[in-house]
Amino acid sequence: MNYKNKMILESIGVDAVVSQTPLNRFEESKVMPPVINSGIKKTEGTQNLNHINSLAELREAMAAFDGCSLKKTAMNMVFSDGNPQAKVMLIGEAPGADEDRQGKPFVGQSGQLLRRIFGFIGLTIDDLYITNVLPYRPPGNRQPTPIEITMFRPFLERHIELINPACLILVGGTSCKALLDTKEGITQLRGRWFDMPLSSPDKTVKTMATYHPAYLLRSPLRKREVWQDMLTLKDFIKA
Ligand code: URA
Ligand code: URA
Repeated sequence: MNYKNKMILESIGVDAVVSQTPLNRFEESKVMPPVINSGIKKTEGTQNLNHINSLAELREAMAAFDGCSLKKTAMNMVFSDGNPQAKVMLIGEAPGADEDRQGKPFVGQSGQLLRRIFGFIGLTIDDLYITNVLPYRPPGNRQPTPIEITMFRPFLERHIELINPACLILVGGTSCKALLDTKEGITQLRGRWFDMPLSSPDKTVKTMATYHPAYLLRSPLRKREVWQDMLTLKDFIKA
């Protein structure tokens, strides 16, 4: 864990376990040349979630977690949608108003575009597993704060481990910031595969970032790059 994360955890009263081992480095990707040389952000602090061995247990533990005030303003917890056996796991930012009402990720306008984007390479909701960095809607759809992200990251990491997907798609800049310890922005990160280390030693997951559909709704010209990313994903799935 880096110093900043440790300070954040301590400032919110979390009993952080500081890892003595150096951060993992991104391994050289076998699919594309190396693009990133920093490690996954580690939070071994908030709580030890190794005892959680099923999605039902994870959902229960998240619902019971009272450390974040977003729970008070949200209508519903938004856990996930799609197929837990899917090869492709998507991680978005946080629920919006529609998601908060329905308790499901990506059901509003962004979600419709997201479904069309993946539909472009023949993937339906049954071929995907979808979750977000935060399970609760930030009021007024503001961006998640670093503290909120840090609080929920252990749940997110466990979620990834339980799904154990063939690949992970980070949807937008927030999910990159939540999971990657890199200064590179989404524009530099997107469209390239890298091996993201997971909490369990020696485990990595093939990961690619792409633009968020909400960004594409504002900047439609960037769709081209996302179509390219989808073709890159399609090649990976076929291989
Ligand atoms: N945007 C997200 O990042 N996630 C959702 O679930 C909905 C909109
Ligand atoms: N900024 C973000 O946070 N996400 C995007 O997808 C694009 C710009």
